Amino acid sequence: MKLLSSIKPDNMRNLVTHFPQLLSTLQIESSILNTAREFHKEGVNGICFLGMGGSSIAGNYVRALLSKEAKIPISVTRDYLLPTHVDNKWVVIAISYSGNTEETLSALSMANEIGSRIILMTSGGKMAQKSKHQIVHLPEGLQPRAALPLIFSAVLPVVESLAGLKITNFQYLEEVLINKSNTWNEWLAPPKEIAEAFIGKTPLFIGARHLAPVAYRAKCQINENSKALAFHSELPEANHNEIESFVKTNGCSVLPVFLRSGLESTKINRRFDVTYDLYLEMGLSPINLLASGDTRLEEMLVLTHFLDMISVELAELCSIDPVSVEKIKELKHRLSR
Ligand code: PA5
Repeated sequence: MKLLSSIKPDNMRNLVTHFPQLLSTLQIESSILNTAREFHKEGVNGICFLGMGGSSIAGNYVRALLSKEAKIPISVTRDYLLPTHVDNKWVVIAISYSGNTEETLSALSMANEIGSRIILMTSGGKMAQKSKHQIVHLPEGLQPRAALPLIFSAVLPVVESLAGLKITNFQYLEEVLINKSNTWNEWLAPPKEIAEAFIGKTPLFIGARHLAPVAYRAKCQINENSKALAFHSELPEANHNEIESFVKTNGCSVLPVFLRSGLESTKINRRFDVTYDLYLEMGLSPINLLASGDTRLEEMLVLTHFLDMISVELAELCSIDPVSVEKIKELKHRLSR
């Protein structure tokens, strides 16, 4: 993990700049992939991710990406309780960067009680002490949300092994992301320009299919890095409710940001176009951000990298420290008393 020693964990811009390199930094131990392959041979009825906040989003990315190929249900739980449909034929992947998140630990102990097969990912804390399970050890000292590329690069091969699928090459993805980020200004816009458009507005990120979790991630990054309100939604569902909501926005100046894919089906493509026109006619000023990439995975990661950088630009424009998350810390502290 040579790269990590040159990354400054207290500098979010530096971390986000190195997003592509972080994708190929973690060398997952072969024993963990072998265990996942063993589970696959024994039979896996489903995969349930447990995690909160920055540690949970990788599960949504994997679910969106592999929902068809995996041929088994993949679910993401953000709660104290393990869903009742999860039994000992399922594999549970619990992720907590700190290893101390109480909701994740609670659902994990339920998975333990019912005898689910379990794989853990953490940088330490109580989770790291659960030595009877296979543990993917994450490097310490990062903000959980900045560890997404590391977590995702570990989680995807584990799930691919559990589902008997070919394993993704992250080295090649690193190159794709570096090349794309060198030309953001040409095919998208400078991230700072988009961040400037967010000032005084509340961004509403709207995605469909594989870009729906990217919209959620963008909302969370604006919340945590830029310390600003943001929302996310998903098409086609938002066409059946949210579209009616802009008459009375309670003083909020909403800025819809459509996350567009070059791989959209004809129906989704038309829906986005018609929704964009309607929002314009309602007096909103929607933005289209077109993901670039040859595959769904490339599009997801390229756009995530770009949107992560927007959250840093917005924080800096507003003189806000994108690293500190004082309220989250305070809340966890009070709950632990
Ligand atoms: O980004 C953050 O700091 C949070 O969203 C955390 O990820 C969340 O509170 C869960 O903590 P952990 O990732 O340590 O399990």
